[in-house]
Amino acid sequence: MQKEIEAIKKGFEEDIKKVKDKEELKIAYLGRKGKLTLLLRSLGGLKIEEKKKYGPELNKLRKEIEDKLKKIKSLGGEERRGKDLTRPGKRVGYGSLHPLTITEEKILEIFKSMNFSVVLGPEVESEFYNFDALNIPAHHPAREMWDTFWLKGEEKDKERFLMRTHTSPVQVRFMEQNEPPFQIVVPGRVFRYEATDASHETNFYQVEGLMVGKEISLANLKFVIEEFLNKFFGKKLEFRFRPSYFPFVEPGIEVDIKMPGGKKWLEVMGAGMVHPEVLKVGGINPEEWQGFAFGMGVERLAMLKHNIPDIRLFYSGDLRFIKQF
Ligand code: DAH
Repeated sequence: MQKEIEAIKKGFEEDIKKVKDKEELKIAYLGRKGKLTLLLRSLGGLKIEEKKKYGPELNKLRKEIEDKLKKIKSLGGEERRGKDLTRPGKRVGYGSLHPLTITEEKILEIFKSMNFSVVLGPEVESEFYNFDALNIPAHHPAREMWDTFWLKGEEKDKERFLMRTHTSPVQVRFMEQNEPPFQIVVPGRVFRYEATDASHETNFYQVEGLMVGKEISLANLKFVIEEFLNKFFGKKLEFRFRPSYFPFVEPGIEVDIKMPGGKKWLEVMGAGMVHPEVLKVGGINPEEWQGFAFGMGVERLAMLKHNIPDIRLFYSGDLRFIKQF
């Protein structure tokens, strides 16, 4: 008996050094047919004095083996057998959506309830869709309105590419592929080559809108935008529609809101009736169809809604900020 006990001790010391799978090792010694288990079972056939002598010794050994097994972490075995992806995970805390994601979802939800479809476009855009197709030819001073990140081109005279400066190019992309009537919203990331401060980022988000149909007028534009803004802020706002200039609309307007009891007019978006030239580029006959378009900044709306003082907070990765939403 003593010899067998020593053999198990030694054997276990060696096995534990080259252990690959903790579970296998445990079964080999403590399982139903494990080495130690069998030895413990054989105690039954011994004389009473021997039982008294070896019983406690074997139990001590079992305890030692159990403790040593506990100390080694689940070694390798799991990797060898492949991770069990169906095992329930451990929850260490809840994550949350980024405030910009929440705001964008809210904006899209409201437009979807008004029967608008959500459409996406590329972030790397051609000069044509970002500018020319929107009635902004090269050397037109209006190009100054958008400080642009140009991508390095290979040859002269080939099409140039850039990081889109607004979501408006998706208007033309969509018109080319679809027959009116339609109404769409286009969320997405845009890029401007400019210095950052509390209200400017080189990277931000917009939502574009476009509705084309028969006899669409400024009255429809006004209704849709007022309906949207009242729902977004959950308040009955005051509105001001000011004349403005964007090359792809005619007339162009800027929309201001005033909160109930507020003093200041706040600028929230650009809009207008789609310019006939833009409809033409999109393959739509302006004699037959009209449309309105609008564009707003997601950060700007989130800042107004939640009293956020600095646009850079959205991109700071500061959990103290992000977790408030
Ligand atoms: N694309 C414009 C910008 O980024 C915003 C805009 C203005 C969009 C008027 C429109 C519009 O669709 O009609 O400054």
